[in-house]
Amino acid sequence: MEGNEHLRRARENYETREHDVLVIGAGGAGLRAAISAADRGLSVGVVTKSLLGKAHTVMAEGGIAAAIGNVDPDDSWQQHFIDTLNSGKFLNNWRKAEIYTKEAPAGVYELEQWGALFNRTEVGKIHQRPFGGHTYRRLAHIGDRTGLEMIRTLQEKTLATDAKVYMETTVTRLFKDAQGRIAGALAYTRENGKFIHFKAKAVVMATGGWGRIYKVTSNSWEGTGDGCILAYDAGAELVDMEMVQFHPTGMVWPPGARGILVTEGVRGEGGVLRNASGERFMEKYDPDRMELSTRDVVARANYTEVQEGRGTPHGGVYLDITHLGYNEIMKRLPTMHEQFLKLADVDIAREPMEVFPTVHYNMGGIKVEPETCATHVPGLFAAGEVAGGLHGANRLGGNSLGDLLVFGRRAGDGAADYIEQSTHSAQTGEEEILTEIGRVLEPLEKPASDKDESPYLLQEELQEAMMEHANLMRDGDSLKEGLGKILAIKDRLPNIKVGGTRLFNPGWHAAQDVRYLTQISEIIIRCALERKERRGAQWRLDYDGPDEELGKINFVVKRNEQGEVGIEKREIPPMPEHLAALFKEEKAKV
Ligand code: FUM
Repeated sequence: MEGNEHLRRARENYETREHDVLVIGAGGAGLRAAISAADRGLSVGVVTKSLLGKAHTVMAEGGIAAAIGNVDPDDSWQQHFIDTLNSGKFLNNWRKAEIYTKEAPAGVYELEQWGALFNRTEVGKIHQRPFGGHTYRRLAHIGDRTGLEMIRTLQEKTLATDAKVYMETTVTRLFKDAQGRIAGALAYTRENGKFIHFKAKAVVMATGGWGRIYKVTSNSWEGTGDGCILAYDAGAELVDMEMVQFHPTGMVWPPGARGILVTEGVRGEGGVLRNASGERFMEKYDPDRMELSTRDVVARANYTEVQEGRGTPHGGVYLDITHLGYNEIMKRLPTMHEQFLKLADVDIAREPMEVFPTVHYNMGGIKVEPETCATHVPGLFAAGEVAGGLHGANRLGGNSLGDLLVFGRRAGDGAADYIEQSTHSAQTGEEEILTEIGRVLEPLEKPASDKDESPYLLQEELQEAMMEHANLMRDGDSLKEGLGKILAIKDRLPNIKVGGTRLFNPGWHAAQDVRYLTQISEIIIRCALERKERRGAQWRLDYDGPDEELGKINFVVKRNEQGEVGIEKREIPPMPEHLAALFKEEKAKV
């Protein structure tokens, strides 16, 4: 009786919208994909669980890495490729890296043509600043607000197309037809809890990362990895999931600001790291590149200084940019000046910042085919942080914003080509839709019991477990203990109960998020247990260094027939001669 009533109300509460291409996520990759698909004359829906313009893209502040050669004319896509592979410790999908390094300059110029207001050199060219691990000054930037300007520009461009944007709308499941092709998605609107069944033959997943599995992160509340698990549940493969990027510099004080990003642009502009004794400690960790070493190295250095008792009073290290002086800081790093003054009462023109690593990015993600961003699920495409492969074991700063432009465009085109070539129509049975609605409503509608769990408390427990057991240095025993904790949380998920109604109910939204967070955490830990070596962001304390054989392997994850996490060791295909030749003179720095 109760069940029928439930379904009757569910039926009353959903509407159907149809698009050719549904883009899930409205950060840089999602918007760029939407523009491409809309420019092909297709009907495009863009769904974002947040507000348009609010995306983790804005947290890539320092610039877009592209070998334009405006400041250092010797730069080339080949050198950018070498730097990207060296930083990724050769786990990168080399074809993705080749496409990226060749196409990033065009992405920058396109953004300029669409109105992005880049900083300029004295002769009026787009200015480029240095960043860690890049051989040349390569980051085209807009002060230290590059991601924000990118979003502003792409947003205006998207709104000039016929794409329809659905804000504050959360997708809970992808639907496939009887042939295993994408047929659409179910979503609900956060404002009033009404459901929308999206009919679409192609979906571009562009939901960004999952920093919220950790307690200290630069990610805002949206970074819960929805798209990664929606795709995994639909049968897509994931790759390199053990690789989590801790950005070396997040704020540490006051407690409410902990984890907020301090752009690498500060180090790019000459910022110096010191410990509490005033020692410029990067000399010990990378005397050649110093503060402009790669992120994995600088993050471990900052962490080690604090662990070994040389940290600041609030548990960080000092980052000093005072030598630039107020006027230059206001020109090059105005956001950092404002951020520290307003949040920490620190004037960075006069005193150093306190910083510590913060979870910022995930190198791993949905496995895609480089040319079109297609996954193994027909009709499903992925771009941006949610897609894996480009960055390998460690991403170079600035390679994320370019990734959004290059592969956002390719994903939109890939989806458009797929639509143009397909003759079927998107079909999902009503029963499947109603079952999903019932599942999503369960935490709200089931009767209270003494086993009830709060999604917030489960999320907090999970974040603490990941912080403790899957941090930037890991060991097998601790990872196993962490896995035990995550699996125990997974067992408790069915007990989640939330009060209130469907109208703007954050507890209900958290109930959806925690499912994704738990599944991703389990996958990360399982992969981290499998990769028994030190490589990039995967730094196993119980192993001495890199393992030659594992250097040829990606761990590919797929839900197995029992519905469990299946992990396969997949050999990285050999690089073609024209790319391999680039390394003849280069010694890989692992
Ligand atoms: O530090 C930063 O500005 C971040 C850039 C990035 O993640 O690419």
